[in-house]
Amino acid sequence: MTRNDPFTAASASDLAQREVPDALRATVRTELQPELDAIRSETMRDQVVEAWAVAIAHSSFSCISDLRASGMWNTDRLVRGTQADHLRGVAAIALQIARVLKAQFPELPVDEDILVAGALCHDVGKPYEYDPVKRAARKAQPSKAGWPIFRHPPYGMHICLTVGLPEEVAQIALGHSYEGEVLARSPECTIVHYADKSYWQTLRISGLMIDDFKESDAS
Ligand SMILES: [Fe+2]
Repeated sequence: MTRNDPFTAASASDLAQREVPDALRATVRTELQPELDAIRSETMRDQVVEAWAVAIAHSSFSCISDLRASGMWNTDRLVRGTQADHLRGVAAIALQIARVLKAQFPELPVDEDILVAGALCHDVGKPYEYDPVKRAARKAQPSKAGWPIFRHPPYGMHICLTVGLPEEVAQIALGHSYEGEVLARSPECTIVHYADKSYWQTLRISGLMIDDFKESDAS
């Protein structure tokens, strides 16, 4: 499968081939700053960058900021900013939630590296679900499985595990949205779940989202 295969989800072996230009890794690293540097583990920082670079490389997007700045591919978007701003915002909110709670309850079992890595990767499946090329191909050749066959949470889990991120980070990608309702979310996953909801809901209720999606613009 080529990196821009318009139809199929990338398998673990496809993703592991790492057809990822170093320039893309550098772009992703810049897009996720400064929150990326809150991760103390250099290995985990590199894995977060790798996860996003692999996800982008197997899509028709060129960087995170190319993705519609919205919770879903066809829902209202931010009045300004990008999908990268969303990731960074959720990471910053999540870190503040953890630190406020830890100040009151020092025994809170939250690992900040897992929390920030998970927050930055919680939507790493979106380049698959949002991809207009894949969506158009699926629309032209409908499947009983519909579209998307996977929403971004399970595909994000797939990417996280493929690049070697810990299961706890992968659970945040899987469980941050309603797929997590059937899991026992970790404390870190719970924080990211509410940080994500707070981000979109607060901006929406404040009139900072625009409902201007047109299918014709997206494919
Ligand atoms: Fe999100």
